[in-house]
Amino acid sequence: MNPPEDITEALARAGARLGPFQHRLSWYEEIGSTNDVAASLAEGGAPEGCVVAANAQSSGRGRFGRSWASPPGAGLYVSVILRPAREALPLLTIAAGVAVAEGVQAASGLSPCVKWPNDVYVGARKLAGILAEAGSSPARVDHVVLGFGINLRSAALPRDVASRATSLESELGRCVDRGLVLAECLAALAERYQMLQSGAGEEVISAWRARAAQHLGRPVEWDAEHGSCRGVAHDIDARGALLVRVDDEIVRVISGEVRWLS
Ligand code: BTN
Repeated sequence: MNPPEDITEALARAGARLGPFQHRLSWYEEIGSTNDVAASLAEGGAPEGCVVAANAQSSGRGRFGRSWASPPGAGLYVSVILRPAREALPLLTIAAGVAVAEGVQAASGLSPCVKWPNDVYVGARKLAGILAEAGSSPARVDHVVLGFGINLRSAALPRDVASRATSLESELGRCVDRGLVLAECLAALAERYQMLQSGAGEEVISAWRARAAQHLGRPVEWDAEHGSCRGVAHDIDARGALLVRVDDEIVRVISGEVRWLS
């Protein structure tokens, strides 16, 4: 269906700043998961830059197979199709976390931080999450669907989610312009993605570090092959892995869930 006016107007105002995301938006009032729709479009040959967005999802998905509560009016649910160069892949989710935090900041004045790899927080509460899913052929990654969900209104979220997460409305004490939030997040993503594609990953890492300062130096726990491990989050490396100090050693954590202990 045609996107609502608040969305089309905000995107039109952002214009060329949206880079590859300015031409094709599929909008749904309610859908299963925007990531699923974007993945089928990508598999059918849709070009980089297609955006799928919804006002509600009936089966929104989070990382580690969790569900992502997506009732109408509670959030923005967005997925974009990317066809990145191989070199851009390792930092893609790091760049997405930075971009969503920057987009939220540009639209609201808040200054969100990121928690490895790409959860977006305001203070101690999660505001937004990102789910990157790659579609691969045997030889290479053919496309990546990058989905992000941003909480807009806590009152519309299920009570258990509202009690541990936050939303733009709760933080600001007023309604937010969701079109502006969408446009600024896409504009920031266009810019950070362009950096990755042109080999400027170090700039993305610096921006990530600046937003992660609050969490670096904190104790973390994760499940390794030989059991659970603990250490202190130290930094990320050039491929986006979390570097954790364990006694006198630095250990690289690349996948699996890291639990933050404080
Ligand atoms: C997480 O923090 O666990 C990631 C949450 C990602 C949610 C978004 S909402 C838009 C897109 N569609 C989905 O089904 N999931 C992502």
